Amino acid sequence: MTQNILILPGDGIGPEIVAEATRLLNALKDRFGLAVELEEAPIGGAGYDAAGKPLPDETLALARAADAILLGAVGGPRYDQLAWELRPERGLLAIRSELALFSNLRPAILYPQLASASALKPEIVGGLDIMILRELTGGAYFGKPRGIQAREDGVREGFNTIIYSEPEIERIVRSGFEIAMKRDRRLCSVDKANVLEVSQLWREVAERVAKEYPEVALSHMYVDNAAMQLVRAPKQFDVIVTENMFGDILSDAAAMLTGSIGMLPSASLDAGGKGMYEPIHGSAPDIAGQGVANPLATLLSVAMMLRYTLNEEAQAARVEAAVGRVLDQGLRTADIWTEGCRKVGTREMGEAVVAELAD
Ligand code: IPM
Ligand code: MG
Repeated sequence: MTQNILILPGDGIGPEIVAEATRLLNALKDRFGLAVELEEAPIGGAGYDAAGKPLPDETLALARAADAILLGAVGGPRYDQLAWELRPERGLLAIRSELALFSNLRPAILYPQLASASALKPEIVGGLDIMILRELTGGAYFGKPRGIQAREDGVREGFNTIIYSEPEIERIVRSGFEIAMKRDRRLCSVDKANVLEVSQLWREVAERVAKEYPEVALSHMYVDNAAMQLVRAPKQFDVIVTENMFGDILSDAAAMLTGSIGMLPSASLDAGGKGMYEPIHGSAPDIAGQGVANPLATLLSVAMMLRYTLNEEAQAARVEAAVGRVLDQGLRTADIWTEGCRKVGTREMGEAVVAELAD
């Protein structure tokens, strides 16, 4: 059965890195029998340019119909002056919400070849392999009421609402346990239960769901401590599950443990396992169009797509092994380059991975 993949290049370096993912998917199709059809559509600033809004109706319709989605990145200085609802980021948030992609997997894995690229000492980050599971369609990002208003005395105030229903908490925590079951069976739920009621409910629900997973060791940690522990002793974690905004912040911190945010993929899944896959770095407008961006996070996002949505474990492993071999050969884009390695551009890196695909 042929599966349909919708490619959303987006803005900035998005089109360049996604071009390498397309090259990879076509190679898997031509050489290794992967049954996929690719289609492309605009999102973010490119959506605004093409159709006057960051998530064009046609893009959303194609996304609903697709089996899986691959996204580059959105945003750029050209679009910063647009009205709030037209900003590229709104397109990203809208597609997450419209497709109910509530479960956001953000692995932080340190490739041994890149240990020296991390700002932390090798003994602290060597062998790092943690998974941050971020709730993606709730909390302050979408909670109402929200806005900016003028009080009676004329002073303006801005406000947002961190709100989670029990079912919303339960489904993400449950995803956390399911992922932990396939890993080291340790789940750390991160909250701010010493201050926030929403976190108290979160903790209560996590404890309840834990009863169904006796093999998994559940712990709780306040988010400020979790931020500190991530840079102090990151290997203590296996799976972290947390709400939307905490996950946004902690996943950037975790990404940097691995040396470069240019290496990390992500998956955003709905209840049925359909998903959108994207590198966790942004659109990097400062280097866009120069052919120097690191495509590996996007290629590894393809691997996640193969594994989690397309059920093609062998193809996923093939891609990851090829990335490993290319790193072994010493090829590095500028963001992960160190003395003694060979600096390559986006395209050369993409071609090298394709060349290393093996039976
Ligand atoms: C991310 C990004 C987005 C977020 C932005 C671009 C809206 O930082 O995917 O982590 O905050 O979710
Ligand atoms: Mg972020």
